[in-house]
Amino acid sequence: MPPHHELSLYELLGDEGVSAVVNDFYDRVIQDPRLNHYFQGMDMNRLRQHQMHFLVTYALGGPEIYKGPKLSLAHRNLHITDSDYEQVIRHLNRSLIRFEVPLEIRIKIEAFIRGIKPHIINK
Ligand code: HEM
Repeated sequence: MPPHHELSLYELLGDEGVSAVVNDFYDRVIQDPRLNHYFQGMDMNRLRQHQMHFLVTYALGGPEIYKGPKLSLAHRNLHITDSDYEQVIRHLNRSLIRFEVPLEIRIKIEAFIRGIKPHIINK
């Protein structure tokens, strides 16, 4: 273990805390008039569950293994633009700040989210 082992968001907030952050983030995204057209006609409960699951497993350092659909497949034909992707990152950071997630952890999460960007945009 490195000398300064930093807690993952999952370790810091636990199951309930993470789900509070994810729900807050999700509400911001689907209420944003710039973004909500992507979600028309989607099964929101299913989406919420998968995105939550994905974030907990990969992005937020939780204990589970992601078993949902491949990211590039899930976003195929959505034609998500670069600036809409940035907007989603902005919402995520707002939620993380609201729940007082420390800067070091926010930076790690943002780096992770940016790393998977090629799987999500312009598909
Ligand atoms: C930022 C990182 C992102 C992650 C980790 C992520 C994660 C996921 C996952 C795991 C799914 C599969 C859910 C399922 O099939 O039930 C999904 C689907 C979807 N995502 Fe994302 N997503 C991201 C960014 C975005 C962005 C930027 C948008 C649009 C602005 C978006 C819109 C959608 C939509 C509309 C679906 C449903 C596709 C369908 O069911 O046909 N996602 N996302």
